[in-house]
Amino acid sequence: MCGIVGYVGDTKTKDVLLAGLARLEYRGYDSAGIAVTTAAGEVDVRKRSGKLARLAQLLEDDPIHPGTTGIGHTRWATHGGPTDENAHPHLSEDGRVALIHNGIIENFAQLREQLGEASFKSETDTEVVAVLLGSEVKKQGDLEAAFRTVVTQLEGTFTLLATSADEPGKVVSARHHSPLVVGIGDGENFLGSDIAAFVEYTRRAVAIDDDNIAVITADEVRVTDFAGNPLPFEEFEIAWDPAAADKGGWPSFMAKEISEQPEAVANTIRGRITPEGVVIPELSELGDEFLQGIERIVVIACGTAAYAGMIGRYAIEEWARIPVEIELSHEFRYRNPIVSEQTLVISISQSGETMDTMMAVKYAKERGAKTISVCNTQSATIPRESDAAIYTHAGPEVSVASTKAFLAQVVALQLFGLHLGRVRGSLDSEAAKRAIAQLETLPEKVSEAVATHDDITQLAKWMSDTRSVLFLGRHVGFPVALEGALKLKEITYIHAEGFAAGELKHGPIALIDHGQPVFVLVPSPRTSPVMHSKVVSNIQEIRARGARVISIVEKGDTATLPYSDDVIRLPLADPMFEPLLQVIPLQWFALELCQAKGLDVDQPRNLAKSVTVE
Ligand code: G6P
Repeated sequence: MCGIVGYVGDTKTKDVLLAGLARLEYRGYDSAGIAVTTAAGEVDVRKRSGKLARLAQLLEDDPIHPGTTGIGHTRWATHGGPTDENAHPHLSEDGRVALIHNGIIENFAQLREQLGEASFKSETDTEVVAVLLGSEVKKQGDLEAAFRTVVTQLEGTFTLLATSADEPGKVVSARHHSPLVVGIGDGENFLGSDIAAFVEYTRRAVAIDDDNIAVITADEVRVTDFAGNPLPFEEFEIAWDPAAADKGGWPSFMAKEISEQPEAVANTIRGRITPEGVVIPELSELGDEFLQGIERIVVIACGTAAYAGMIGRYAIEEWARIPVEIELSHEFRYRNPIVSEQTLVISISQSGETMDTMMAVKYAKERGAKTISVCNTQSATIPRESDAAIYTHAGPEVSVASTKAFLAQVVALQLFGLHLGRVRGSLDSEAAKRAIAQLETLPEKVSEAVATHDDITQLAKWMSDTRSVLFLGRHVGFPVALEGALKLKEITYIHAEGFAAGELKHGPIALIDHGQPVFVLVPSPRTSPVMHSKVVSNIQEIRARGARVISIVEKGDTATLPYSDDVIRLPLADPMFEPLLQVIPLQWFALELCQAKGLDVDQPRNLAKSVTVE
C-alpha cells in the first residue's frame, strides 16, 4: 500500500519519479506527489489529491525546479482523507527536509505531543516524522545521523525515504515491516517499494531487510542497521521484462493480463516437468524426509490468493493424501492455531508483501512450522522470510484485480501436490502421468477459454444495469464461484456472492427472484457424472424460481441447454484443472461489466493491489 520511489542521478529526476509512480500506482491512488532537491540547496515539492494524471498536469502548469535528487509517493489513505494537504511528500517545519512514508506510525500522537509547539499542515502520521526529522537535522547537522535517531523512536510499520536541502545528491531510506528495494544503475541509483519502480532503468537490484537503512547517492549504495553499523548486501538480477509491465496497446492492464494467462501458466510449468515427473528444486532445502513426515498442511492467503489456495487444496489432498486447511492470513494468528514441527504452512501471495500474510508466516515460524511461499514477485519479503519459495512466473501483474497470478498460483500448488504425492508414495505413476499430461496441454486450453471473450462481451452489455449477480459451484467449482463474485465486487461495485451449489437450498435460494442472474459452473458429465446431475438439478431449482441462468459447461454438454439463458462452452479437462478454465469467462465478465458501466478497470475505488497494512 502506497508506492514509493527515490532517485539520485542526473537531471531526469522528475521523469524517473513520474515513471516510477506510474508503475506503482496500483499500490494506491488517493494522491501523488514528488520532491526534488536542487543543487542550489532547496527542496521543491508538488503534490495533488487524486490520481497521478492530476499531479502530471500540476507539473505542466507549475514546473518543479530541476535537480538530480528526488522522492515520489502515491498514496492509499490511512491517517487523514485524500486531500492535497495530506498528500506526501511532507516537509519539516523549515521546509528543508522532505519525507515520504508507506505504513502506519502507531505512536504518532505521542510524538506529536513531544514536538509541542510545532505546527502541522496535515492530519497524517507521516508529517509528524517529517517535522521530527527536520528538528533532528537542525540539532545534529547531519541527515543520516538524524534519520537514525528518528527511526528508532518510531512504532508501527514503515518504509521511509527522505531528502534534505542541505545534502543534495543523497536519499536516505529505512524499512520496518514495509517493503524497500534498491536499484543499482550506472552513475545513478534508485529506491522503490518494489522493482516495478525502476525496472525500465536497471536490472540490478538489492532487497533491503527489515530494520535496515539504505543510503543512495549517484555513485554509491550503503546499507546499515538502525545503529549505523555497515552491512553487506547481495545483488540480484531482475528477471522481469520491463515491456511486460506496459499496457502494450490493450485498453487496460486487466484485459492484457487475462489474455496473458496461457503464457503465465506455461511459464509456471516450464522447467518443472521432466521425464521423471514433477521436480521443484526450490524445495531441496526442506528435504524429502521432511516432506514425507508432514502431518498437516495449512494454506494461508488473502483475497484471490486464498481462493487459489482453496482450489489447490483439492489437488494436494487428492494426490498427497495429507489434510489441508485453508485459512485467511488475518484470521490465522488470532485463534491460537495448532501448529507443530510436522505442519507445513504454505503462504500464497502475488506481491509477497501482503502484511496480513507476512505476519501469519512469522507467527507460524515462531511456532516451529516449516513455511513455503508461493509468490510472483522476486525477492519479496514473504519468500525471503520463508523456508522455501515456489515462484510463479506470471510476470508483473499491474491490475488491482488479480487474474493471471491466480492461475499461476493454482498451477504452482498443483505441481507441488504432484511432487508431494510422488515423494510420499501416495500417487501412482500412471495417475501422475495423466495429471502431468493435463498440465502440459493446459496453456492451449487456457487460450481457448480466453477466446470466450466475445460471447461474454455481449452478455455484459445486456446486463449493464444488473444490481446483483450470484455464482454457484460444487467441489472445485465452489472456489471458482467465490472468485467470480470477488472479481465482480472489486471492479463493478455491484452485489455479488458465490455459493456452494449444494448450500443453495439451505438459505441462499431465498435470494432468487424473477430475472436474478446466476452463473453456474457445471462439472464435466464425463468425469463427474454424479456431481453433474446434481448441478443440473440445482439449475432447474433456480430456474423454476425465475433465475436468469448462465451455464459454464464443457464442450458437448447439452444437459443444461433447456434450462439456461446463456451457455459458455469450455475445452475438456480433468476435474482438478476445470477451475483454471472456468474462472476465465468470469474474469472477462467482471471486466466487460465494469467497462459497460464506465468505471476504471485497473484502479477500482478504495482498493490497492499490495496491502502492506494490517
Ligand atoms: C488485495 C488485492 C487482491 C489480492 C489480495 C492478496 O486485497 O486487492 O487482488 O488478491 O490483496 O494479495 P497478494 O499480493 O498477497 O496475493
